[in-house]
Amino acid sequence: MKEKEREELCWCGSGRAYERCHRAFDEKIGELMRKKYITPPRRIIKNPAQLQGIEESGRINIAVLDYVSQRIREGVSTRQIDQWVFQKTGELGGVPAPLGYEGFPKSVCTSVNDQVCHGIPSEECVLREGDIINVDVSTIYKGYYSDSSRMFCIGRVSEEKKRLVEVARECVRIGVEAVKPWSFLGDMGAAVHEHAVKNGYTVVEEIGGHGVGLAFHEDPWVGFTTKRGTEMIMAPGMVFTIEPMINQGGPEVFVDESNGWTVYTADGKPSAQWEVTVAVTEEGCRILAY
Ligand code: MF3
Ligand code: CO
Repeated sequence: MKEKEREELCWCGSGRAYERCHRAFDEKIGELMRKKYITPPRRIIKNPAQLQGIEESGRINIAVLDYVSQRIREGVSTRQIDQWVFQKTGELGGVPAPLGYEGFPKSVCTSVNDQVCHGIPSEECVLREGDIINVDVSTIYKGYYSDSSRMFCIGRVSEEKKRLVEVARECVRIGVEAVKPWSFLGDMGAAVHEHAVKNGYTVVEEIGGHGVGLAFHEDPWVGFTTKRGTEMIMAPGMVFTIEPMINQGGPEVFVDESNGWTVYTADGKPSAQWEVTVAVTEEGCRILAY
């Protein structure tokens, strides 16, 4: 390869000529930087091969959650869910990302009722009729990370809890619809927040979503109580999670000091959360895991 040709290769690693790859992108970023907006650093912009890898990882994540959804019911312990996730992820060629992550002891997070997130699977936690549970699955496949979670209602649950779970799901759909290239991440969070508040709920402020793909947690941090016209500009090639935690009562939470992980609502009222991994595209966005 001649020196000149090498120089012209795009920084994204696509192998394409810079001129026809990210040249126009960089001009746009430069313009936004001059206006003092927060713009994505190059390291979080994925090339097509990386997007495909994350999508394949996401396919495993989806299959594992499908597997859980077919088996979860009253009488099952969250330890059993952990075993399903460990076994099914391995069978599909992946590795559960939570296992050993910053000392997390299990393969999945299982958060029941007033547990907001990061619930640790346990033999003692047996699901009973009326419970709502979030199962949060994350997969590493060929070095690519994906992350998504779903809520499950165990048997008949109260109308109150059912509505919380439904609105939490709508919040994610509304967030996804707000993902558009060159608009503000803060607009997405504001749309989520407005929907929750309109329905009488609150949104946890201090825990949010995150960039994902080449690592479990990358920039940006993704809030869901944000203001329009703030936060990072969304650019094509960014991949992040939308995972608002919606509380029936107040937004205050605390961490269980005995395990250092599990987050609870301060008032003991239930919380619900769904999570998707999305990629920003030229047209809008693509869901890579749900
Ligand atoms: N999916 C969860 C998140 O993004 C995973 C938490 S880290 C873990 O917050 F170690 F608890 F898995
Ligand atoms: Co996440």
